[in-house]
Amino acid sequence: MTILAITGVDKRYGEQTVLHGINLAVDAGERLVLLGPSGCGKTTLLRLVAGFEVPDLGEIRIGDQRVAADGKNLVPPQRRGVGMVFQDLALWPHMSVAQNIAFGLGAQGLSRSARRRRVGDMLARVGLAELGDRRPSALSGGQQQRVALARALVQEPRILLMDEPLSSLDIELNRRLRGEILDIQRQIGFTMVYVTHDHEEALAIASQIAVLQAGRVVASGSAGDIAGRLGLRTGSK
Ligand SMILES: Nc1ncnc2c1ncn2[C@@H]1O[C@H](COP(=O)(O)OP(=O)(O)O)[C@@H](O)[C@H]1O
Ligand SMILES: [Mg+2]
Repeated sequence: MTILAITGVDKRYGEQTVLHGINLAVDAGERLVLLGPSGCGKTTLLRLVAGFEVPDLGEIRIGDQRVAADGKNLVPPQRRGVGMVFQDLALWPHMSVAQNIAFGLGAQGLSRSARRRRVGDMLARVGLAELGDRRPSALSGGQQQRVALARALVQEPRILLMDEPLSSLDIELNRRLRGEILDIQRQIGFTMVYVTHDHEEALAIASQIAVLQAGRVVASGSAGDIAGRLGLRTGSK
């Protein structure tokens, strides 16, 4: 089942067209990696899916809903069922880990005990069960990464967007955390759109890859297929 369909999408900033005729379809449960160099339009594409930007042309569908078409957003970000993890994580420094994750639940009409249970489950899932009362600043980089992931996942998004979430980490931590992200994704089964400029990271994470260059999708297919076409070595999983 296609959960995300991007059809003929153009995005302009002033005179500059930063995305040209983007077509992408993502099946439920897939891990699509958008791979391309800095400035090619990866973040812009994620922001269009999340609803923070409006496409100038084309249409975006999530599940059976048209969320953007004809130069307008039809569904606001908070009603798209889309979660986002940013490169800088954007954790609240004055809140505890548990409060940060509870913040992800927003104004959903949950009872206090239901909220506490959801947050507790999520903490356990990302291996932070003992650390809920700490401030983010008292955690390692890897642990902070897991808090950001938990805060997005606690909303049970249909699609999780991740914008270079590991690119500020050293290679060893990057490898370990992407393994953890994969484990959590397989456990929960959410659909993921993951942005990186790093080939090795892309091949380790992806089930599908779309290669972006200067605002255009220049290749897309299964991770193995793209690895073959680009002459990339498939990473050890
Ligand atoms: N809000 C904006 N206003 C004007 N130009 C922008 C804006 N956001 C991004 N751009 C431009 O769009 C292009 C793609 O940017 P971006 O999507 O951030 O690329 P990437 O995430 O692949 O590095 C770049 O040339 C960037 O300067
Ligand atoms: Mg970017």
